[in-house]
Amino acid sequence: MISYCNKLILAPMVRGSRLPTRLLALRYGADLVYTDELIDLSLLMSKRRVNDILGTVDYVNEANGYCTFRTCPEEKDRLIFQMGTANPDRAVALAKLVQNDVSAIDVNMGCPKPYSTDFGMGAKLLLNADNAKRILTNLVKNIPLPITCKIRIFDNVEDSIKLAKEFESTGISAIAVHGRTKKQKSTEPVNKDAIRQIAENLKIPVIANGGSDDIETYDDIEKFRNDCGASSVMIARGVQKNVSIFRKEGLIPHEEVTRDYLKLCVDYDNSLANTKYVIGKMYKANTDKIQKKKFSREFEDAESMEQICRHWGLKDYCREVHGAYAAKGHVHLPCSPLTQLEDISTEIFEYRKHLYKDENIKFSLMKFIRRYFGLETLPKTLVYGYAGRNKLPPPVYETRREDRLYYTVITFNGQKYASLIWDREKRNAEQTAALVMCHHLGLFEEHFLTVIGCLLDHLSNDEIREHMQ
Ligand SMILES: Cc1cc2nc3c(=O)[nH]c(=O)nc-3n(C[C@H](O)[C@H](O)[C@H](O)COP(=O)(O)O)c2cc1C
Repeated sequence: MISYCNKLILAPMVRGSRLPTRLLALRYGADLVYTDELIDLSLLMSKRRVNDILGTVDYVNEANGYCTFRTCPEEKDRLIFQMGTANPDRAVALAKLVQNDVSAIDVNMGCPKPYSTDFGMGAKLLLNADNAKRILTNLVKNIPLPITCKIRIFDNVEDSIKLAKEFESTGISAIAVHGRTKKQKSTEPVNKDAIRQIAENLKIPVIANGGSDDIETYDDIEKFRNDCGASSVMIARGVQKNVSIFRKEGLIPHEEVTRDYLKLCVDYDNSLANTKYVIGKMYKANTDKIQKKKFSREFEDAESMEQICRHWGLKDYCREVHGAYAAKGHVHLPCSPLTQLEDISTEIFEYRKHLYKDENIKFSLMKFIRRYFGLETLPKTLVYGYAGRNKLPPPVYETRREDRLYYTVITFNGQKYASLIWDREKRNAEQTAALVMCHHLGLFEEHFLTVIGCLLDHLSNDEIREHMQ
């Protein structure tokens, strides 16, 4: 059984805590590592497969062949699996599925983003303590591994203590506390005093989190732990900057860290998009403006792992390793159909697709953004005109609502169309569905779509995030 006392821990980060990052963190000195949050519905559609060529265990979504979770024996004894769930039975089913490949199970109760809270998961569980407790109790009762949860604090520390104590009463082994409220951004100072007060009132270990802005060196980690009176420390953004923050002997230059990281990406056939994301984050945090510009140009255009490896003198290494894998019959498993959208949550899109499974719908990942369209080019206007010109009945819009989001299915000429991006406004949901139909019928030139940027695949993560607000 793992212990949560005096531990240095890699925090769960969507896209930021995949296998190569976890292994590197462990090799540099982390004691425990979390997976990124993995959503119950998505993982439950996956089957466990032993991959003898890579030496990994892969969870593969049977429907689409995507690898939802990859792990390996090197991390097994130190790996905490974090799930996103709002359902006690699904939580147990998922824990049972992965329990032989991990050392502990954690429930995410801190994620404030709509893609989590809209489905009752993440920080929403803090407002639904009964359900949160049912999930934890069910896990403790049925799973022979330590169970934990990761929470955020409330404005009032008394409320935080009360909730943490209620969670403690379920029999969990530890609790990670991110010292910010659901509304607070990471730019706001972390509330170390609140973490301290929670730690003082609990018997189980408290893992302090949220201190990356104060943590520049290894020694700062211990200071943060002391300031919070906590048993252990969990780090997220500090790791994105430089994973070697876990080294007792001090930081390694990020050039060297990147090389170590890249080798692991090659060894474990990490996806190109994820590799670029992790390295990009590290570079953006560590280089000056001029370097950053140069880096972006050369790096973001890279279309293969070999091209990236060339920058760090690992081209031959990549070719050799991947050549040997291919000779043994290894087939690269795509990680996600939505390379750029992964951190908005592939799992949510999987869930949405699943909702439409009984209907014959053509999907796209599109979102209507009003400012890109003039009156005559509004998607609804275009599809209406198209129907008229072809003497067909006009499209029929059926708008549905789930949690506070609208999504429209449009039926035209015997075919249904919908987007996997939902909207807070009904009229935008309709325009979005019409946009998908325009796209499938070729009513917009591909070139036009790219230029106006309404095809989300063509936008950068930051732009997507901006539009998703
Ligand atoms: C890119 C990114 C992804 C994250 N994904 C998750 C996640 O999947 N699960 C979770 O509980 N927290 C997630 N978080 C929150 C972090 O685990 C952590 O609570 C937060 O960043 C504060 O810690 P820090 O100051 O060390 O960064 C994420 C944070 C970042 C920056």
